[in-house]
Amino acid sequence: MGNIEKRKSIRKFQNKKIEKQIIQDILQAGLLAPSPKNRQPWQFVVISNENKKKELVDAMRQEIAVRLKENSNRSDIYASLESMNIIEQASVLILVCYRYGMVEQHDDGVDWQISSTDLEAVELQSIGAAVENMLLKATELEIGSLWCADILYAYKTVSSYSTNPVVSAVCLGYKNEMPEMKKRNALSDMCIFY
Ligand SMILES: Cc1cc2nc3c(=O)[nH]c(=O)nc-3n(C[C@H](O)[C@H](O)[C@H](O)COP(=O)(O)O)c2cc1C
Repeated sequence: MGNIEKRKSIRKFQNKKIEKQIIQDILQAGLLAPSPKNRQPWQFVVISNENKKKELVDAMRQEIAVRLKENSNRSDIYASLESMNIIEQASVLILVCYRYGMVEQHDDGVDWQISSTDLEAVELQSIGAAVENMLLKATELEIGSLWCADILYAYKTVSSYSTNPVVSAVCLGYKNEMPEMKKRNALSDMCIFY
């Protein structure tokens, strides 16, 4: 089985630190992702210091609690608290940021004739590719990972960690569960062949 088939979201982690070299290998895999005009529009904020991570998780929980108070019927906000428990257990949290507004820095100096929203869409695709690269590298190195967007429920808190917009996060840690592969739709339902 290859790493694509082996990768699963891990939500239970051992209380064991990941070595610095392994974290760097995973980040390096992210940097190898393709991007429009090779602009590499990502930035990773890596939080592995236990106290710093606890500080962040506490602040995110507080912000989510306030949102929940204002929107008590929102089960999605409530569910995001579960992701805070997962982040707390993880050895490393990587905030994935979008190095926005790099259009002028093309290799060839040619401006794209597309709108800024199209440009955002293509740049965000490459950030997704960088994240997937990291998840696959983590799988190869027997490290559990979770792609986690629930941090966006505490946007004010996470946005104070970078001048670039935070778009997602990745949790890393040694696995403490072996979940089954989640079911996927059939190829015939998801593809159009001509
Ligand atoms: C962009 C993105 C954001 C996600 N955010 C969360 C999250 O905040 N919390 C969580 O528990 N899982 C999150 N997931 C994981 C998905 O739930 C998971 O990938 C999906 O259920 C398929 O399961 P698998 O990863 O084990 O194949 C996210 C996945 C993606 C791609």
